[in-house]
Amino acid sequence: MTTIRTQVGIIGAGPAGLLLGEMLEREGISSVIIDTRTREDIEQTIRAGILEQSTIDVLDAIVPNHRARTAGYRHEGIELDFDGAGHRIDFEALVGQAVYLYPQHEVLIDLLVAADARNADIRLEVTANDVVDLDTATPRILATTKDGEPLEIVCDFVVGADGTRGISRALVNGARREGHFREYPFAWFGILTEAAPSAPELIYAASERGFALISQRNETVQRMYLQCDPEMPVDAMTDDEIWDEFQARVPATELKRGPIFQRDVLRFRSFVAAKLRNGPMFLVGDSAHTVPPTGAKGMNVAVADVVLLNRALREHYAGGGDAFLDSYEEDALVRIWKAQHFSYWMTSMLHAAPNETSYDHNRRIAELRTVTDSEAGRKFLAEGYTGWQFAGWEPVEK
Ligand code: PHB
Repeated sequence: MTTIRTQVGIIGAGPAGLLLGEMLEREGISSVIIDTRTREDIEQTIRAGILEQSTIDVLDAIVPNHRARTAGYRHEGIELDFDGAGHRIDFEALVGQAVYLYPQHEVLIDLLVAADARNADIRLEVTANDVVDLDTATPRILATTKDGEPLEIVCDFVVGADGTRGISRALVNGARREGHFREYPFAWFGILTEAAPSAPELIYAASERGFALISQRNETVQRMYLQCDPEMPVDAMTDDEIWDEFQARVPATELKRGPIFQRDVLRFRSFVAAKLRNGPMFLVGDSAHTVPPTGAKGMNVAVADVVLLNRALREHYAGGGDAFLDSYEEDALVRIWKAQHFSYWMTSMLHAAPNETSYDHNRRIAELRTVTDSEAGRKFLAEGYTGWQFAGWEPVEK
């Protein structure tokens, strides 16, 4: 049995865990991060990434060599398509903000490079099995290495950053993973295709045939989604059928077609855990909450959690007391629920539920018109999409 002593034990080397490790390092607080995956798995788990301006500000301060501004794409708006026409939401003109399209695995690569540079203690292919002694001042993470060796991490604090399927959610919320939950009666069928962007910005299309999103990865690879039944098999449609369906749902833009090299089905869920804290253990990111992808909020809410928890741990170790640790849950939930609402709102405004009545449909299109026809409406959407100011964020000098 190997025993390690650290101040903060972090379960999960995703964006939340790795960013927290970098932030704590700057405060002079030690941490050990474990993750069951290999480095290749972490770097290659392809996920969406829309970074809000506040997220970029945090990366600028904490991960100075990040590539979001150079390898990512700055988007100053999106297009909402309905009734056969496009309606642009001009973020820059409405709220003076933009977002960056920069996939999550690229953020992870940047964070791992920063971690390497500071010789961070990150142990991969280590599986967390349990956290014990949560009623004491030295909780312990019990883990197993890839060689089957037991590893014990003795900490002051444990941070659960191991996502929806990790062990942390249940350690804080009980085996039933108590919380607030919503499932949607539709999913997204996603493709990656070798094609140039069909439009300069993302298109969110609410057509009579269902929703479609035309997103991007880079100059040669595009990411696109069709609203579908959650049970739809990925091979249900031929490539030609897929393209014809996309084009029918996005009539205002001629789509650039290319070979389709990946297909997947994404389920839609909204979830907020009942508790974000159990004694010295705290939840951040997807272990604490889940949003459907429509609002592009996932990683940004995780970063907002980490900013608040970092502030609380900084105050604790600097002798400033535990007021921020004690208010972490309440503070984090404010933004978590705003992001829940925004994601839910975008999702329900843009998708036709399978049982949608003609009343529901006409009301929904009127909602889209209410948003796009008025500056106040467009501004409301732009504010939510580009994100709200992070609470507890003061840029840290390097
Ligand atoms: C994506 O590019 O995968 C993407 C972009 C925006 C979203 C969701 C997904 O709202």
